[in-house]
Amino acid sequence: MTTRIGLVGAGFIGGRHADSLAAQDGVAVVGVADPRADRAAAVAGRVGARAYAGWADLLDAEDLDALYVCVPPHGHGAVEEAAIGLGLALFVEKPLATDLATAERLAARIGDAGLLTSVGYHWRYLDTVETARGLLAETPARMVLAAWLDKAPGVDWWARQKQSGGQTVEQATHLFDVARMLVGEVSGGSAVGSRSPEGPGDILDVCTAALRFESGAVGSFSSSCLLPRGTRIGIELVAPGLGLELTEHQLVVSDRDGRRTVDRQVDPIAAEDRAFVAAVRGADDDVRAPYAEALRTHRLVTAVAAAAAGNGTVQLPATIGAQR
Ligand SMILES: NC(=O)c1ccc[n+]([C@@H]2O[C@H](COP(=O)([O-])OP(=O)(O)OC[C@H]3O[C@@H](n4cnc5c(N)ncnc54)[C@H](O)[C@@H]3O)[C@@H](O)[C@H]2O)c1
Repeated sequence: MTTRIGLVGAGFIGGRHADSLAAQDGVAVVGVADPRADRAAAVAGRVGARAYAGWADLLDAEDLDALYVCVPPHGHGAVEEAAIGLGLALFVEKPLATDLATAERLAARIGDAGLLTSVGYHWRYLDTVETARGLLAETPARMVLAAWLDKAPGVDWWARQKQSGGQTVEQATHLFDVARMLVGEVSGGSAVGSRSPEGPGDILDVCTAALRFESGAVGSFSSSCLLPRGTRIGIELVAPGLGLELTEHQLVVSDRDGRRTVDRQVDPIAAEDRAFVAAVRGADDDVRAPYAEALRTHRLVTAVAAAAAGNGTVQLPATIGAQR
């Protein structure tokens, strides 16, 4: 049986998902919606889908098994509500929204409807992250050093606080998510941020947080979008007798035997798409960031971003580790 998928948002990541889905056996991307007609047509043309100007038209016209939501952060809300109403399985790109309230509301509706969901925290599908997790299971991390030092992406919405939620929520969220996966929940901390006149848009262009984990581990998370290119995007973990340096492309392990580099063998975007489709078909259950799990990361990053923009104290919601 063919799994019929609709795609909302035909930009950079929507196009990548469309290509990786179309490359899977038994999957048809049947409709692509984007208000930018040229983008909808280009992606739809590549994968043999119909192009739509709006997601409502797509949902009206196509009989779908699942919907991919790949809109900018400020675009979340109404499209998921409509898909939930139709009982569709949902793949949602991170971040869940610019704010927490929208994500909490959608999570409650998804939970009530019992829908299958997956969120695009694709680092979770890296084989190198699995290797790191195995090593840390024996020797838990005591310290985390995470940094996303980069240029501002070129898309117009990215440097607008109201549209993206800022760098911590939009981008560094991957690092917070991996840290939660490898070290556990954060219990509190502080964060500061700042803007320079040269910075893009109206977001904080430097931000740093010092956090404590429930395990007792401590962590620092820094981000900046002031650079001309990415210089450091990854997370380091320190454990007794063990150092791990993880990027999206490789893992460097330092232990008593020396220092060795492990390159990733997996395309994590293709892997998350395969896992989602298998779950939609009921063939497998390897979705690693369902909406409820992604919500826990979103609670953390929205609290860190609010602290950096405000009085510095990270006020985690009481629900931080709860299912909903
Ligand atoms: N997992 C990852 O590594 C990863 C990588 C890139 C982007 N993303 C996330 O994906 C989202 C999109 O990023 P992008 O780089 O593809 O942005 P983009 O600007 O390239 O594409 C977004 C597209 O959505 C369209 N759009 C906006 N509102 C819409 C609506 N209501 N209905 C349909 N289409 C709409 C825009 O016209 C645009 O074509 C962001 O939240 C971003 O954080 C995730």
